[in-house]
Amino acid sequence: MSAVTSERHGPVAVLRMNNPPVNGLGAPLRSGLADAIAGLDPAVEAIVLIGEGRMYSAGADIREFNSTPPPGTPDLNQVIAALEGSERPVVSAIHGVAAGGGLELALGTHYRVAAPGSRVGLPEVTLGIVPGAGGTQRLPRLIGTEAALELIVSGRLIGADQARELGIIDEVADGDLLEASVAAARRLAADGTVRRVRDCDDALAAARATPELFETFRAGMARSARGRNAPYACVDCVEAAVNRPFDEGLRFERETFVSLVAAPESRSLRHAFFAERECGRIPDLPRETRGRTIGTAAVVGCGTMGGGIAMNFANAGIPVTVVETERAALDAGLERVRNTYATTVSRGRLAADEMERRMSLITGSTELADVGSADIVIEAVFEEMELKKEVFRALDGVCRSGAILATNTSTLDVDEIAAVTGRPEDVIGTHFFSPANVMRLLENVRGVRSSHETIATVMDMARTIGKVGVLVGVCDGFVGNRMLHQYGREAGFLIEEGALPQQVDRVIYDFGFPMGPFAMGDLAGLDVGWRIRQRKRAERPSNMRYSDVADRICEQGRFGQKTGAGWYRYETGSRVPVPDPDIERLIVAASQQAGIERRDIPDGEILERCMYPLVNEAAKILEEGLAIRPSDIDVIWIHGYGFPRWRGGPMFWADSVGLDRILEAMQRWHREHGEWMRPAPLLERLVREGRGFASLGA
Ligand code: CAA
Ligand code: NAI
Repeated sequence: MSAVTSERHGPVAVLRMNNPPVNGLGAPLRSGLADAIAGLDPAVEAIVLIGEGRMYSAGADIREFNSTPPPGTPDLNQVIAALEGSERPVVSAIHGVAAGGGLELALGTHYRVAAPGSRVGLPEVTLGIVPGAGGTQRLPRLIGTEAALELIVSGRLIGADQARELGIIDEVADGDLLEASVAAARRLAADGTVRRVRDCDDALAAARATPELFETFRAGMARSARGRNAPYACVDCVEAAVNRPFDEGLRFERETFVSLVAAPESRSLRHAFFAERECGRIPDLPRETRGRTIGTAAVVGCGTMGGGIAMNFANAGIPVTVVETERAALDAGLERVRNTYATTVSRGRLAADEMERRMSLITGSTELADVGSADIVIEAVFEEMELKKEVFRALDGVCRSGAILATNTSTLDVDEIAAVTGRPEDVIGTHFFSPANVMRLLENVRGVRSSHETIATVMDMARTIGKVGVLVGVCDGFVGNRMLHQYGREAGFLIEEGALPQQVDRVIYDFGFPMGPFAMGDLAGLDVGWRIRQRKRAERPSNMRYSDVADRICEQGRFGQKTGAGWYRYETGSRVPVPDPDIERLIVAASQQAGIERRDIPDGEILERCMYPLVNEAAKILEEGLAIRPSDIDVIWIHGYGFPRWRGGPMFWADSVGLDRILEAMQRWHREHGEWMRPAPLLERLVREGRGFASLGA
């Protein structure tokens, strides 16, 4: 069947794009469109272009990029030129999404009708490219330079109403989309005029009068676009729209697209895009497995995590019961939730009545029995095994049969917790990241006895509450924190050997993380790790190197931002870390006492010492089967730890560095620094076989 079918509504030809699941504008759809336009009956007076299925079009078929042989003709610009050049008016009927090349296609038509609730935008920048089919040339001509710059550089999708206000959409359909679009097409045909965006020029006048706006815009994105090329290339293309004739601007855009699509930034971002979708596939789950419906939820413990977890359900419109043992703790927890919402309202990002609606979905209780009818209960009490067991025994007694019993533990053995219940198959870990209402990662931790249905339920739940769910297995720290531990330890050793926290943090920041390990520790609170280290002191292997600098800092009551001092100093009310000479003296003294002669440590060595052991640990995790595939680990680090998305995640990045280089460094450090650095057998095997992590799959 052709990817484009044509039908007549009187004098109007309706062309239907049909390339599931998202009407990606791959070769079949492009040639289908070109053929359909060329083959139109001469009696046709106007054309409506509409998408079958879920949406108008999500744009170019991303899988076609860098394909060999290159995708066939016609290219999208040729298809759009044929539509735009048509003497017969062409109307786009948009439902679902018109994104990237999909919106560019619509911008090439003469009129755009959208169904309520549909979304449009040019998200190419999020894939490390610029819109490649005229988006940067047509959008500013349609809505003005500044509005176009904001949309193209952010890559965000906007709703139909906002698009109508901006002028991207001409009409939001009241009733049936196709009917409204056919009516518009008839009207335009009767008027006998077509408006071609390429010929519009008025909206560019303001930018021509203030050409400095581009420099100002570039200066304003210094932080958000740190390390990246595509956002700046987007600005260059819009500037070309203002300064050059249309065809020249279009050529410039095309050349920019072609050079960016082959670069590491775009390859990494496309990897991240597909990795996020791939991580939802669980190979051992039979196809017919269905998750249970989550209509109501409950959270036990309304502390730092519990409150944030409850907010996720309320945000998704799911009623949630929150339980504490004491009224005072419950009130304090709910107050924190309210304050968090209130801050969002004060920043203009949430309507006040919406806040009240969400708060009304959260019910507090001091009776555990009140969670009895919930479809899922998430335990978020203190991190103590005996307490967790006690809570799960009680949950087993009160929860309805078929409820999912989940734990938010960050370090404890999910299987040991499950074993105290009479229904370990319904028990699973749901490891949220702090702040739980913000961070998108959800590590779902399968116990040995978690059922397929339980796993499917929490993976579905992640999507429902706007998280990226990644399934992992039980081990100390699960996947993310187990790797983080390697990185934190090496950062600690580096300062003992001669670096300072500010140097390590700068190197990590420059790599693309939002902050380095020391600033991160100060933000999260140093006391948490300190308590865990004290508890586990007896288990610490005496033959392994240990740095006690962090302990010495905590002994001084310096727990980070919350005490105004940690690895850095903080002025009252400020979150800006200021290097502290006292800490430098403390570190130098610690080096001396440990008999380490301090040396200048090059930035490159700092980066490698922090990142290679992290990758090495990931290889061990993969070998132990605790993560399904390398790209899942990339998703974990992008969404849970701020690993720069434009580097694709640690595993993708490691492949780009070369595993042989990483192994060589690990072997050298293993000789110099001992056991911590022992290379992972999987890393050795991959290097022996000349393969990368990407070759592993699931
Ligand atoms: N090309 C190829 N495959 C695509 C795709 C695209 N543009 N967009 C989505 N898909 C695939 C997804 O990988 C997924 O495949 P699997 O089922 O095999 O995992 C499937 O379509 C469904 O996608 P989602 O799960 O993401 O569906 P959703 O409903 O959650 O989201 C969406 C829909 C908002 C459109 C989202 O898919 C999306 O953001 N897609 C990418 C949009 C985009 O970036 N477009 C620009 C492309 S580049 C371009 O157009 C260049 C140019 O200028 C010519
Ligand atoms: P918290 O100390 O802020 O909150 C725990 C809450 O549980 C307290 O409000 C306490 O009153 C309540 N509580 C204790 N016993 C209870 C009981 N029997 N019934 C009902 N409520 C009870 O702790 P936090 O930080 O929220 O951690 C909770 C869990 O989440 C822990 O398992 C922790 O390891 C995990 N976690 C914490 C993260 C963090 O960054 N804080 C990140 C990821 C997981």
